[in-house]
Amino acid sequence: MKNAAFRAHTNIALIKYWGKEDETLFIPMNSSLSLTLNELYTDTFVSRLDEGAKDSFILNNHEQSEEETKKISKFLDLFRKEAGISSAFRVESINHVPTAAGLASSASAFAALAGAMNQVTGLQMDPQKLSTYARRGSGSSTRSLFGGFVEWQKGTSSEDSMAIPIDPADWDIGMVIVAVNKTAKKISSRLGMKQTVETSPFYPAWVSSAKDDLIAIKEAIHEHDFKRLGEITEHSAMKMHGSMLGAKRPIIYFEPDSMKAIQTVKKLREEGLLCYVTMDAGPNVKVLCRLSEAEKIKQKLLEDFTEEQVLISGPGPGIRPLTDN
Ligand code: DP6
Repeated sequence: MKNAAFRAHTNIALIKYWGKEDETLFIPMNSSLSLTLNELYTDTFVSRLDEGAKDSFILNNHEQSEEETKKISKFLDLFRKEAGISSAFRVESINHVPTAAGLASSASAFAALAGAMNQVTGLQMDPQKLSTYARRGSGSSTRSLFGGFVEWQKGTSSEDSMAIPIDPADWDIGMVIVAVNKTAKKISSRLGMKQTVETSPFYPAWVSSAKDDLIAIKEAIHEHDFKRLGEITEHSAMKMHGSMLGAKRPIIYFEPDSMKAIQTVKKLREEGLLCYVTMDAGPNVKVLCRLSEAEKIKQKLLEDFTEEQVLISGPGPGIRPLTDN
């Protein structure tokens, strides 16, 4: 096969992945669990090039630097090795995220690329095995192979550190995303987690409590207990950020506008509306809610944020091919 194209949706962790046991193989310290989102996704097209050509990488219509292309080439090497080929590829990715949101995600990017490479090389790995490949591009992309609620089981080796779909999330679940700041992150998640693992005295507590949270959240999902799901989600995010605050130097992703959104959510909850906050390695706030109540939450947030900063999404599907050639 010469060409392949795949779509992958991004995911937001409810039990966060924060810290690696093995930095080369992207084996995490703790298992995590996420919700795949419908509104944010990446489309990736790959073409096998003729003998003698070099890999190229185009993102959102812009040819990427040699340095960026090198990162992609390293990822493509995993597939070349498995398939026993040496050809170069042209990789073109388009991120479908609202332009002002600044929510471009490596999760959907590497999951879409993994899907396309699996097809173009004829490897035909099943999605679970493919998730172990996506993982080597960016840990969180492991979970984007599947839709709905997805667990990334830490596993014991590179072969079994993989994603497992848990539940399709077809029971009135959604997220309101508040794009607080669209400029690039100051500290990447890769660096932030490394610094936390190495220097935060709170880190061991994060790992052990993430284990308990994972068991509890799976029960909540199984029972469709939204309140418990939300409480565990918010607690997990705050504990992750707590472990970062204990790092030397402290890692702080909160901005004044993040706090504003958090206060709004707290106030809505006091008024009886069930909604819960989660945050990743940046100042944006994601509100886990009933999809049927998302518009109400959005309207409240619009008192402090603009229309283009607030986005509603329902649960999204797993990766899928865009062409059959
Ligand atoms: C806070 O997957 O971006 O979003 O594996 O180094 O590429 P690398 O890190 P990345 O980390 C995501 C961290 C997080 C939590 C999560 O998505 O689980």
